[in-house]
Amino acid sequence: MKSHWVGDILAGAHDGETVELKGWVYRTRGNNNIHFLSLRDSTGNIKCVAKKDITGEDAFAAFGSALIESSLIVRGEVVLTPDSRDGESHEILVTSLDIVGSVDSERPFPIKESDMLHTDEEGELMYGGSQNCLDNRHLYLRTTRATTMLKLRSTAFGAIHDYFRSREFIEYQAPNFVTGAVEGGSTLFEVPYFPTEANPERKAYLTQSWQLYAEAAMPALERLYTIAPSFRAEDSRTRRHLTEFWHAEMEMAWANNDEVMEHGEGVVRHIAQTMLDEREQELVSLDRDLESIAKFADNPYPRMRYDEAIERLQELKVDVEWGDDLDYTMEKVLTQDFEIPHFVTHYPKIAKPFYHRVDPEDGNYVLCHDLLAPEGYGEIIGGGERTWSEREILERIDEENTPREPYQFYIDVRSYGGVPHAGFGLGVDRVVSWLAGATHIREVIPFPRTSRRVTP
Ligand code: 4AD
Ligand code: MG
Repeated sequence: MKSHWVGDILAGAHDGETVELKGWVYRTRGNNNIHFLSLRDSTGNIKCVAKKDITGEDAFAAFGSALIESSLIVRGEVVLTPDSRDGESHEILVTSLDIVGSVDSERPFPIKESDMLHTDEEGELMYGGSQNCLDNRHLYLRTTRATTMLKLRSTAFGAIHDYFRSREFIEYQAPNFVTGAVEGGSTLFEVPYFPTEANPERKAYLTQSWQLYAEAAMPALERLYTIAPSFRAEDSRTRRHLTEFWHAEMEMAWANNDEVMEHGEGVVRHIAQTMLDEREQELVSLDRDLESIAKFADNPYPRMRYDEAIERLQELKVDVEWGDDLDYTMEKVLTQDFEIPHFVTHYPKIAKPFYHRVDPEDGNYVLCHDLLAPEGYGEIIGGGERTWSEREILERIDEENTPREPYQFYIDVRSYGGVPHAGFGLGVDRVVSWLAGATHIREVIPFPRTSRRVTP
């Protein structure tokens, strides 16, 4: 185990004490008599100074020859030294050290700061997307930027659990192998599934959403949620599409569209506030403007109907017609100048799957919502009221020419004491990407799966 952490030392918890640090070499430089090494652990980086007259020849030589990302145990005294910026900084005056895992000089650590930033096809600055960084993703994770993203991600997951659990929601798990689509057949991943004699072509799909199986438990639990992977065979090469993403979903009995929107807004504001409370330093290190995040945490989110969004887009000269679903490029234009998230409600029935409940006041629309993040990030939540009577669900399924058979369980939920209910799904990776100000969704997930990459 470790007895001391870099973060605690930087926070002044061990001034003047003798400590033992375990970590990895971040940077080194030096000469024949003095050597500087920046040691990193999961909590921060600290400068370690070795002087030959204190450590002795052998340790000094070992210290000086340790290559980037070799692992070390360093012992020494915590000293405060004058610092050009804010007065004093913490350093370790090294007395002894052990190299635990050395790095072969023939195979130095392959990721360099200069690889991390590059310009993409659209001329935008991107982090970590060079072939070298992607091929060495397992090593890229150790860079300060990647580590910071993983911390923000953990905070978001914690905040979501917190939000729902403190409101009496029950965490519930649905299967990932399914036999029917939730969000339309075009983005289904097919998996061969133990062919039988009767069914030699037997197959399953990877689920696009927890929703349908959550609706089955809705009459049992009434308020339920999950955070789980969802899968989309989506060949969209955008900054916000993954083929495997983390999906926070909720379902509520007796609730309508407006009521679940309150929760959508509530959970997003809670994530933003928790980021500010727990990860201020990390956000600042990414140059994320804290005032913007405070706005996301405080303001009520405005609501507009789909028709109004289409009008605005047409005014902005975007080629879109009534009836189209809003895609990435349209949402980007629509949200570019927003300062806080906006809801778009009442999409046309023809743009949405069968489970969306038709608006009883106007049959051309469904009672649904998307929440669009500002600054061009676009959709982070999709949800709404469910078609809940047996008659209506059969009509909607037949209308779409969808076979009833894979959905029999779903129809049964309506046949045995159906009730009004609603829910939504939030793309956790998208929310983290937006709050972190990431250049691409792959920045915030350790091993991104996209149409172009499943390795490492
Ligand atoms: O809007 P979607 O497709 O809605 C559903 O799946 C509903 N069944 C959810 C529900 O009502 N329980 O997906 C919901 C959210 C999107 O708003 C987006 O944030 C995220 O999931 N998402 C993706 N995130 C990353 N990569 C992708 N390919 C995504 N597709 C959807
Ligand atoms: Mg959607």
